[in-house]
Amino acid sequence: MKSQYLLLKLLIMIIIKTSLSDSDGLYGTCNGTFSCGNISGLGYPFRRHQAPAYCGYPGFELNCDQQGPPTIEIMNMTYRILSINSTFQILKIVRQDMNESICPKNLVNTTINHKLFDYAPSYMNASLLLGCPLSFNVLGIGSIFCGNNGVGPTFLVPGIQGPGICNTSVIVPFPIGFTNTSGFINTTGSEQILQEGFDVMWKVNGKNCTDCMRTGGQCMYDNVTRLTICSSPSGMQLMSLSYLWTNP
Ligand SMILES: *[C@@H]1O[C@H](CO)[C@@H](O)[C@H](O)[C@H]1NC(C)=O
Ligand SMILES: *[C@@H]1O[C@H](CO)[C@@H](O)[C@H](O)[C@H]1NC(C)=O
Ligand SMILES: *[C@@H]1O[C@H](CO)[C@@H](O)[C@H](O)[C@H]1NC(C)=O
Ligand SMILES: *[C@@H]1O[C@H](CO)[C@@H](O)[C@H](O)[C@H]1NC(C)=O
Ligand SMILES: *[C@@H]1O[C@H](CO)[C@@H](O)[C@H](O)[C@H]1NC(C)=O
Ligand SMILES: *[C@@H]1O[C@H](CO)[C@@H](O)[C@H](O)[C@H]1NC(C)=O
Ligand SMILES: *[C@@H]1O[C@H](CO)[C@@H](O)[C@H](O)[C@H]1NC(C)=O
Ligand SMILES: *[C@@H]1O[C@H](CO)[C@@H](O)[C@H](O)[C@H]1NC(C)=O
Ligand SMILES: *[C@@H]1O[C@H](CO)[C@@H](O)[C@H](O)[C@H]1NC(C)=O
Ligand SMILES: *[C@@H]1O[C@H](CO)[C@@H](O)[C@H](O)[C@H]1NC(C)=O
Ligand SMILES: *[C@@H]1O[C@H](CO)[C@@H](O)[C@H](O)[C@H]1NC(C)=O
Ligand SMILES: *[C@@H]1O[C@H](CO)[C@@H](O)[C@H](O)[C@H]1NC(C)=O
Repeated sequence: MKSQYLLLKLLIMIIIKTSLSDSDGLYGTCNGTFSCGNISGLGYPFRRHQAPAYCGYPGFELNCDQQGPPTIEIMNMTYRILSINSTFQILKIVRQDMNESICPKNLVNTTINHKLFDYAPSYMNASLLLGCPLSFNVLGIGSIFCGNNGVGPTFLVPGIQGPGICNTSVIVPFPIGFTNTSGFINTTGSEQILQEGFDVMWKVNGKNCTDCMRTGGQCMYDNVTRLTICSSPSGMQLMSLSYLWTNP
């Protein structure tokens, strides 16, 4: 058991060593930290989408071309990034298609890539029911104003709900703690809360990159081994195997 594991470790090290020789000479070709839109101090796993692919982990490409918040694409949906907490690996994001009204322009459910992200534990699922008949309001929860986009009255209810008698249901993460004892979401203020976005935690371990940078190195992604490596002026260095194993 133990010796098998050791052999596996050895094999992986050999594979990495051979593939790394291809990527030698890349040191210094990625920016250690960079600013994107109104957010500064960004680094691996993030990269500007124009930067070489090896500068970031796949799925963490940022669009910094516009003023204000940077954007990221997750599962084919564009999100504005409102803040990044690198220490705790938390991103606050909001759907780009909710930038003008909390009633989304794209009638698709919010889904994140669970290989890379997880919802922060302080969030739950809620459903926006769009295009409901007025009779829906028997619940007395009050409708949300969707502007003049012709979808009809919209309601926000907790949990994953199908459209039922309404035209469409769109699932959105919503902070826990805004439901009353009967389990209804208080409509007052919920529009602003939706506009403030939600927190996701990224799973790719970035802590080691701080260590890597401290020793004068730079984290890079090796697309052959699909692992993060620490590149330094003296050449490539293996991150500790514990780190390699935690990579998705
Ligand atoms: C590094 O940063 C500079 C200045 O912000 C930018 O012009 C350049 O494109 C960046 N390079 C990479 C590889 O991100
Ligand atoms: C992403 O969206 C584009 C255009 O909106 C579509 O062509 C493509 O099939 C979508 N990809 C996935 C994986 O849903
Ligand atoms: C960036 O701008 C957006 C919108 O203008 C704002 O909501 C967000 O708080 C800003 N982020 C930072 C880190 O300043
Ligand atoms: C990052 O998140 C943690 C935990 O939520 C919080 O205590 C800390 O103040 C945050 N740091 C920044 C810079 O926002
Ligand atoms: C909202 O996003 C769309 C598409 O990205 C953009 O065309 C529009 O100008 C944005 N509106 C605001 C108020 O930022
Ligand atoms: C919403 O439900 C889905 C499917 O049950 C789950 O994977 C996801 O984590 C939930 N979202 C939140 C914010 O709890
Ligand atoms: C629901 O959708 C149908 C077909 O698009 C539309 O005719 C109807 O007005 C919508 N109902 C509401 C309440 O918006
Ligand atoms: C919870 O909220 C709903 C909708 O606003 C309301 O009808 C109901 O009476 C509330 N229940 C309690 C226990 O406050
Ligand atoms: C969102 O998910 C719910 C539950 O799975 C489903 O009933 C609904 O049709 C989905 N909405 C859209 C726009 O696909
Ligand atoms: C809804 O929230 C508002 C503001 O937080 C509060 O004043 C009001 O009493 C709440 N309504 C109910 C029914 O809980
Ligand atoms: C790996 O990256 C190099 C340089 O960026 C590129 O030329 C090569 O096609 C990539 N290989 C794979 C398997 O994606
Ligand atoms: C990477 O991080 C893990 C835990 O976060 C730590 O145990 C390990 O020693 C680190 N490896 C390196 C090379 O810094």
